[in-house]
Amino acid sequence: MNNIIVNGKVSKGTINKNIYGQFTEHLGRCVYEGIYVKDEDNIPNVNGIRCDVMKALKNIEVPVVRWPGGCFADTYHWKDGIGPKDQRKTIVNTNWGGVTEDNSFGTHEFMEFAEQLGCDVYFSGNVGSGTVQELSDWIEYCNMGGISPMANLRRENGRQEPWNVKYWGIGNEAWGCGGNMNAEYYSDETRKFSTYMRNYDNDHPIYKIASGSNGADYHWTKTVCERAGHMIDAITFHNYTVTYEWNNKGKATGFTKDEYYRLLHNTLSMETMVNNHSNIIKQYERGDHKIGLIVDEWGTWFDVEDGTNPGFLYQQNTIRDAVLAAINLNIFNNHCDTVVMTNIAQMINVLQAMILTEGEKMVLTPTYHVYDLYKKHMNAKHLESYVDSDILNDEEEYKVPRLHVSASEKDGKALVTVVNLSESETADVNVMLSGLKGSSVSGRCVTGDMNDHNTFENPDVVGITEVKAQLSADGNSFSATLPKNSVCSFEVELS
Ligand code: AHR
Repeated sequence: MNNIIVNGKVSKGTINKNIYGQFTEHLGRCVYEGIYVKDEDNIPNVNGIRCDVMKALKNIEVPVVRWPGGCFADTYHWKDGIGPKDQRKTIVNTNWGGVTEDNSFGTHEFMEFAEQLGCDVYFSGNVGSGTVQELSDWIEYCNMGGISPMANLRRENGRQEPWNVKYWGIGNEAWGCGGNMNAEYYSDETRKFSTYMRNYDNDHPIYKIASGSNGADYHWTKTVCERAGHMIDAITFHNYTVTYEWNNKGKATGFTKDEYYRLLHNTLSMETMVNNHSNIIKQYERGDHKIGLIVDEWGTWFDVEDGTNPGFLYQQNTIRDAVLAAINLNIFNNHCDTVVMTNIAQMINVLQAMILTEGEKMVLTPTYHVYDLYKKHMNAKHLESYVDSDILNDEEEYKVPRLHVSASEKDGKALVTVVNLSESETADVNVMLSGLKGSSVSGRCVTGDMNDHNTFENPDVVGITEVKAQLSADGNSFSATLPKNSVCSFEVELS
């Protein structure tokens, strides 16, 4: 028997709903085909936004979406994407496949998508090849309610009221595709850009996000916080998980047991990174001014599917991706005192996607179902949890814990999300509810063989199934048997 303790008396605070955020870039078929379709495509849509995709995204209650990149953001000039479509400039997407970008999906179209979904938006500003004036104008265009050059232009383009966009990124991967800067230079750029990123409505202040480090580059975080921390609200970092190394990322499907454990072992480094970046940002708290931590790109990155454009980053998504997503979401929940937002890469048809599309067909991935199982953690009170279990693969280099957990409480219910990392063994668990008393419990899981995935021919291979859970007579604990490589969520009605 494996033991888990959920401590109803110890909490790190509220789990920010934005931890469940998404990322969409003008990359491959994420925006075009994934979200946005042209009239001639004959795919049911409202103002170009796919109805099937919208329905699926509404179900997982997406809280915030980052756009337009990624590397694309530092080549994007937002004025190319406004005004009559037939007059919009055509550019080359130099980062992703060298394809032609006709700018038919711009600020108004993205905001239409966000308004249909009812989510917040996070715009990545162009620092690498853009100007301070350009970013400052974009904010004025989106947020100025009165009379001004940019507000007037917005009205000419059909939008009367400001959108009050809150989240603004100051570049993306400034150490790489965003300008190949060093931390010291980027800090100065951040101070300059931030100076001209104005609030146009005191009831809707903007939230400034500095471009952060590549994984474990702590020098970057420390330098930016030291030199520009007083002029930002949050700093990001990016961390993708590959099976081997950057030049040999491994396969998305058809992987071996060894590759299964390697990948899961590798993703656990997220915990160390979140801890270390958190410890740095905490040193730069000044009175009420706290710097939030945002992981605005994370997830699996595999070799692209055979026969697809290498610049489109299209990959399948298996039970292993589901397990990996759940581990990371548990880590973020358990660090909700510093982690204020995360954006898995990317929402549709790119990297670790929620949704895959092909023409009018759509398929939900195992990762999508994890977001469904976890959605009640959003804005819930985090509860500390502990696992007493053993280590899998103990004799190998790639060790992983058998179980991984996080828990929260909201609206008189506790939600306990547990991952069974074993690819072959079920796990009997006893969950002690310390300081809490349950009156009923129900369980749901995503499970299957490690390589299981959904395809357009067989879209329902992986879904959500019910799992039995037994509450003790005194309501102080429950037990269940977790299927092999599963992600399970248990909802306990509290009395
Ligand atoms: O998500 C794909 C790319 O990964 C993004 O454009 C970039 O920011 C990162 O390197």
